[in-house]
Amino acid sequence: MPEKNLYKQALEAAETIKRIIKTKPKLALFLGTGSAQIIQSLHPSISEIDYGEIPHMLKASVQSHHNQLIVGNLYGVTVMIWTGRLHYYEGYTMDQITFPIRITKLLGVDKAIFTNAAGGINPSYNPGDLVLVRDHINLFPANPLRGYNDERWGVRFPDMSNVYQKSWNIQAAKIATKQGITIHQGVYAGLPGPSLETSAEYKYLRTIGADLVGMSTVPEIIVAHQMRMQKTVISIVSNVVDNDGNASTETTLEQVIATVDNSLENVHKLFKNWIPFLDKR
Ligand code: HPA
Repeated sequence: MPEKNLYKQALEAAETIKRIIKTKPKLALFLGTGSAQIIQSLHPSISEIDYGEIPHMLKASVQSHHNQLIVGNLYGVTVMIWTGRLHYYEGYTMDQITFPIRITKLLGVDKAIFTNAAGGINPSYNPGDLVLVRDHINLFPANPLRGYNDERWGVRFPDMSNVYQKSWNIQAAKIATKQGITIHQGVYAGLPGPSLETSAEYKYLRTIGADLVGMSTVPEIIVAHQMRMQKTVISIVSNVVDNDGNASTETTLEQVIATVDNSLENVHKLFKNWIPFLDKR
């Protein structure tokens, strides 16, 4: 629940980061499970800040999340990359999960790309496919904006009818298709986890209009939207189910990470042509 002193805490965090990085990034990346390797494309990497150095910031506890904020040059654009995501299933509050996005906004960065690993429930999806999120269904039991509303963040009742940056998704889809990368646009259902879905739940999610399901991102997107940031999400399909919600193999974290890892080359290829485009928007 947004605390009254959240703004002050986020300002302190932003001030600390500003002092260290001495530059203003143009774009923020929030990396999900298995995606941290994207930082290898930074030339040069300007600063590396451990989450522990950032006032009021907590750390992700899950394997494959690196807990560093890295600032550098990605294909000609100064970016800040959050390499560890905090999840609701880890026991964190919505304020804690969404703190990095608030800090980002206070640093004056208004554009963000999120990545995540997600289960594919649209039967046309295959493991490793990329999906640009075009909308979401919030099935978390809490909304990050519940409680005290500090008007400095934004309005009490943000309109959620147009959350994802359509022009960015169109451009990304064009770039990917040109390079022979399989890419879709779909609806992401955000659930608390950590247990995965039963077959009946996967089927239910498909029925209500979801193409993907995952345990992250939606809280951050809601907060980013209230703060009027431009944003989109790329999900990497890590496992799939059929029309009846059945999977042919068991889903494990190791398998999710391995599938994401195999797709990162395509993410790199997409970013190479897409990131410079975003700088001009
Ligand atoms: N369900 C929920 N979250 C996930 C899945 C899934 O099937 N795959 C990756 N994250």
